[in-house]
Amino acid sequence: MSSLQPSPEAIETFNQGLAGFWHPVALASELVPERPLGVELLGRRLALARLGGGISAFDDLCRHFGAALSIGEIVDGCLRCHYHGWTYDRAGTVVDIPARRGLPIPREAKVPCYRAEEAYGLIWVCLAAEPRAAIPAYPEFASDQFVKTPYRTYDGWEAAATRIVMAALDDTHFPWVHPGILGDPAHPEPPDHRAWVEGDHLVSTYAIEQPANISLGSAEGATGLETVTYTNHVFPTTIRLHKAAPGGVFILFQTMQPVAHNRSRIFL
Ligand code: FES
Repeated sequence: MSSLQPSPEAIETFNQGLAGFWHPVALASELVPERPLGVELLGRRLALARLGGGISAFDDLCRHFGAALSIGEIVDGCLRCHYHGWTYDRAGTVVDIPARRGLPIPREAKVPCYRAEEAYGLIWVCLAAEPRAAIPAYPEFASDQFVKTPYRTYDGWEAAATRIVMAALDDTHFPWVHPGILGDPAHPEPPDHRAWVEGDHLVSTYAIEQPANISLGSAEGATGLETVTYTNHVFPTTIRLHKAAPGGVFILFQTMQPVAHNRSRIFL
């Protein structure tokens, strides 16, 4: 094993540390009522399905012979495995074994089932029995004061979700990576920050001078620098950025699906 690879114990600690939080696992539009969807979260394969008016998230492993439930089918509000037809209700309990009809169904005939919710156009899952925090707040999603753009997704990002959060919070790269857009190479010095804990998350805010440009809603042809105030609401794998510029207020909601310790899907 390369010395750059984290140990199995470190990976397990990472997964356990994030298991108590809600994470996005799909766009709501990707989970259609007619069939299940296979996703990965913290190294665990899950089968999602819309069952009985709610969303179910099961281990993607049939209790019978281990077939993937995510390639099963939805029948009468239950999820039926394609291999031999074992059928699971919304709580993951087997309610039909076609080869044993008329016989009692064993008590062990069930699969682990996790909390799953739909919010802000995304499907969220928490792997712990009791979440450590609520789904990150995104009040602007329901506000008609904002013009909403569709989610952009970035699949297969080869980085830990927490590292992506750290990289987004690092404002000192702006003049170097985004010159003329988010930063001015003549002013590489970092701004003053204020940071505090607010309920279940961290807030950090600072004001910086940025080049006037269309992404700030600046007037056409505007030049020079404008003062922009960033306020980041930070959760372990989510940032809600409130950006106040002369051209208006922008919200960037960026949330990461920690597919594994070193792989993420980004919803922006
Ligand atoms: S493996 Fe699923 S029913 Fe047999």
